[in-house]
Amino acid sequence: MTEQNSIYQTVIIGTGNLGSALAVSFRESIFNLDPKKLWLIDRDHNEASSLAESLNCSCAKDIASLPSNIDIYLIAVKPQNAQEIFNALLKKESVKRAKAIVSVMAGVSTRFIRDKLPWENICICRAMPNLAVKVKKSITVLFFSAKSSVQPFITALFASVGKVLTVKDEELIDAATAVSGSGPGFAGFLLDSFIEAAKSIGFDDTEAKLLVFETFKGTLLYLEKEKDLAITNFVSKVASKGGTTEAGLKVLEKNKVKDIITNTIHSAFKRAKELSS
Ligand SMILES: NC(=O)c1ccc[n+]([C@@H]2O[C@H](COP(=O)([O-])OP(=O)(O)OC[C@H]3O[C@@H](n4cnc5c(N)ncnc54)[C@H](OP(=O)(O)O)[C@@H]3O)[C@@H](O)[C@H]2O)c1
Repeated sequence: MTEQNSIYQTVIIGTGNLGSALAVSFRESIFNLDPKKLWLIDRDHNEASSLAESLNCSCAKDIASLPSNIDIYLIAVKPQNAQEIFNALLKKESVKRAKAIVSVMAGVSTRFIRDKLPWENICICRAMPNLAVKVKKSITVLFFSAKSSVQPFITALFASVGKVLTVKDEELIDAATAVSGSGPGFAGFLLDSFIEAAKSIGFDDTEAKLLVFETFKGTLLYLEKEKDLAITNFVSKVASKGGTTEAGLKVLEKNKVKDIITNTIHSAFKRAKELSS
């Protein structure tokens, strides 16, 4: 078996919202043939244990009771719980022989992790998925602190929950936190505004949701299909002179909605950088 398609012993520490969704998809794809190589740990051992049972994968009570041959430790706890995990990893002798520490914790830099877990031989990977992992439509941005033989494996893990973009500059993880990490919240806000507006001109809630969801989905699919069509050209194409789309777009332009969106992303980026520093 080459390094590329080896199945590494992997533990997900923290099987909350994100960790459990990752466990389900990893198990269905990468660990399909060797489910016992996927380990789960959570403070709520009963919860982790019943998830592991349903996935036929392995479960440990805590980091200390994991086997000594774990290759990849994936930390999926909230940043405020990170220190407990670092302490437990430091106490476990075999961790220094691991191949990678993967962190999905927003705002926790690889420098910070390296300070806590000072083993230069271990690659640190920061991953920024989003809540669409639950429907396998996440976009996950990855940053690796160093070249590593497990990079293709870690990339494949996240490819099982959607698309992956690997960046060479860690600051882009904070940028991704602003765009795609926080993005579902912003997208939800915009969708809600459209739905409210549709209701204000006559539709009931169900009808308004149907119209708005299908319009957004359809536009995305169309633009994905028409890859060569620049979005600005698409906008002018659909806005016929004197028509309804043009009337609406004039309001968006007059109110500088593009500037508002830019400020939204910049503000989220600034906060992500503050949290990472
Ligand atoms: N949710 C997302 O869509 C998303 C997207 C991108 C990144 N993230 C990042 O992913 C991480 C997890 O987010 P989440 O929404 O999945 O949080 P969550 O639902 O709170 O899950 C974290 C889990 O870890 C457990 N935990 C905490 N300390 C532990 C310890 N010492 N040992 C074992 N288990 C422990 C928690 O148990 P208790 O509840 O008992 O503390 C909880 O079950 C965060 O750092 C977040 O920044 C999340």
